[in-house]
Amino acid sequence: MASSANHAAESFSNPNWSNHCVAVESVQELSLKKPNEIPQRYIRSEDERPFSAPFSSLLTVPVIDMEKLLLPSDNHERQKEMGILSEACIEWGFFQVVNHGIPHPLIDRMRGVANEFFSLSLDEKKKYAPRAGEAQGYGNMFVVDENQTLDWGDLMALVLMPKKLVNLALWPTTPSDYRNIVEMYTIEVESVAMIILSLFAENLQLKNDYFKEKFGEDPMMTMRMNLYPPCPRPDLVLGLSPHSDGGAITLLLQDDQIEGLHIRKNNEWIPILPIPYALVINIGDLIEVMTNGIYKSIEHRAVTNKENTRLSIAMFYQSGLHDEVAPASNLVDEQHPSLYRKFKHQEYIHYYMNKQLDGKKSLANFAKICK
Ligand code: OGA
Ligand code: NI
Repeated sequence: MASSANHAAESFSNPNWSNHCVAVESVQELSLKKPNEIPQRYIRSEDERPFSAPFSSLLTVPVIDMEKLLLPSDNHERQKEMGILSEACIEWGFFQVVNHGIPHPLIDRMRGVANEFFSLSLDEKKKYAPRAGEAQGYGNMFVVDENQTLDWGDLMALVLMPKKLVNLALWPTTPSDYRNIVEMYTIEVESVAMIILSLFAENLQLKNDYFKEKFGEDPMMTMRMNLYPPCPRPDLVLGLSPHSDGGAITLLLQDDQIEGLHIRKNNEWIPILPIPYALVINIGDLIEVMTNGIYKSIEHRAVTNKENTRLSIAMFYQSGLHDEVAPASNLVDEQHPSLYRKFKHQEYIHYYMNKQLDGKKSLANFAKICK
């Protein structure tokens, strides 16, 4: 045990991982101590404020029934659902999945351990603050400049896979089943991720295990538990700045009751309405690259509300640290030239983690081939 902990400490003291993070105060603490105030640092410029325009679209993201996708391949219901999945990936980059097979009591407990952790005292939580150079732990991320506008939320981030990157020193010991529950949930989410990726491959006419093979022996999974405390003026702040996710796919448990996730479609923000126990799945930047832009990672954000704390748990499934990421050669031809250069996953993580969240700019700035 001791030697594996040392190994983890070594990997994470690597300054290549994250080196610019500026610590900021806990929003949860702020909202408890001064429930009617918002420090200037959280207030958005007019063009970034949510709800500045009413939602005009009646569109909602597709809902996929995973049970139907597991039927034999000649089944008509399955073929229809595969079509809905394909359209969801091409037109939306986001969909909700029901009947995913993750036991509901495990989901309840996962939310339970997250809530119990966030309800510990600030001093207790601070024991899990990121160590220098690390991009995991309790606090905030993507704050690189003393003057940047801050998000109205706290988070707990952990690397879950591969084992050699797990730093158990940052895993809460209260509640006592935190580790056990997160490990059980990780196994379940990984298996859903593998199924979804093999269905993507099938729809794209790639080998079914195309993504699995590309993600190598040591695929990564990281987790962010996001807590958005009530805010006296939700119209002036954002819970989480607009961004696209940097991994391959994200499997998100959003709050069952409290709305707050918006995606940008046709230049309009559209809310993702909670469906109890559904997983919200979205395409990340790595799949955009590997599909040569056929599937796109979509810009999204989280907003807050006056009355309620909102909790979400995002699991980011991604390639191994040392894998190369590039468009699949079967998806590149004269009519569809390569849109992205090949890069090492680790380099993209470094780029992504050391700057502010910046809408859809990240991947374009890092890897887009300009023609
Ligand atoms: C994220 C994310 C959305 C939410 O953690 O990357 O987009 O609803 N979260 O918290
Ligand atoms: Ni996200």
